[in-house]
Amino acid sequence: MQDPQDLLELAISTAEVAGVMLVDRRPADLGVAYTKSSSTDVVTEMDKASERLIVDRIRAARPGDAFLGEEGGETGGTSGVRWIVDPIDGTVNYLYDLPDWAVSIAAEVDGEVVVGVVAVPARGELYTAARGRGSHLMRADGSTRPLRCNTGVSLDHALVATGFGYAAERRARQAESLRRILPRVRDIRRGGSAAVDLCSVAAGRVDAYYEQGPQIWDFAAGALIVQEAGGAVGGLNGRPPSAHLTIAAAPDLFGPLHDLLDESGAAGG
Ligand code: IPD
Repeated sequence: MQDPQDLLELAISTAEVAGVMLVDRRPADLGVAYTKSSSTDVVTEMDKASERLIVDRIRAARPGDAFLGEEGGETGGTSGVRWIVDPIDGTVNYLYDLPDWAVSIAAEVDGEVVVGVVAVPARGELYTAARGRGSHLMRADGSTRPLRCNTGVSLDHALVATGFGYAAERRARQAESLRRILPRVRDIRRGGSAAVDLCSVAAGRVDAYYEQGPQIWDFAAGALIVQEAGGAVGGLNGRPPSAHLTIAAAPDLFGPLHDLLDESGAAGG
């Protein structure tokens, strides 16, 4: 039996430690260590250092757990707990010293995400959720507040965050669907971190988020934070959120946005 409170506390303290390291040790001349799926899909030495710190710290406390990390991939465990880690979500923002990058840590028990933590160190913000216990924003000044998604927003008044993949062909398709979506909503925001975008939905800073292409480490923690803030998270036609399409919004906006994305061709992966 796993106590979600223990997992939450470990996720919070680990995200905080990684965040401090990423702020304090960010090299002034930080460059791209290597690229992954395309020349725009960058990894820095700090992505690797952050993931190493997170995995080592959690493994020292819980040696039987499994991990899925953006940089390190999958490692097995025996406890039934799997940690899903994005050591820097929004690496391009981090590279350019823009503030919207995050450390995202989710804990799954027997395949269900029960804890999600997203630290946004450059903003002094830490978003947390535990299944069935709500989601919260903790600030560097020590204040904490519960999060609620915006409700009662019609599609034409919705401020919608989105993100783009790294492959040129996918970007071309995304631009094409965006051309159809943009005239139908209040406006679009491209912040540069899916985890931060999801937290912004939970905090009511945007009304919705959608993206074709996010990976599970980008959205595992943020999706729980949205759900625990009263929001709905899913994919096309009742499917779970995935790299194919991930949508997050208050339940009354989710349906209209889903249908707009479907008819705009934004669900093509
Ligand atoms: C990326 C960011 C970005 C989103 C991409 C992600 P990374 O994560 O979340 O906002 O549009 O789909 O891959 O590569 O910086 O961890």
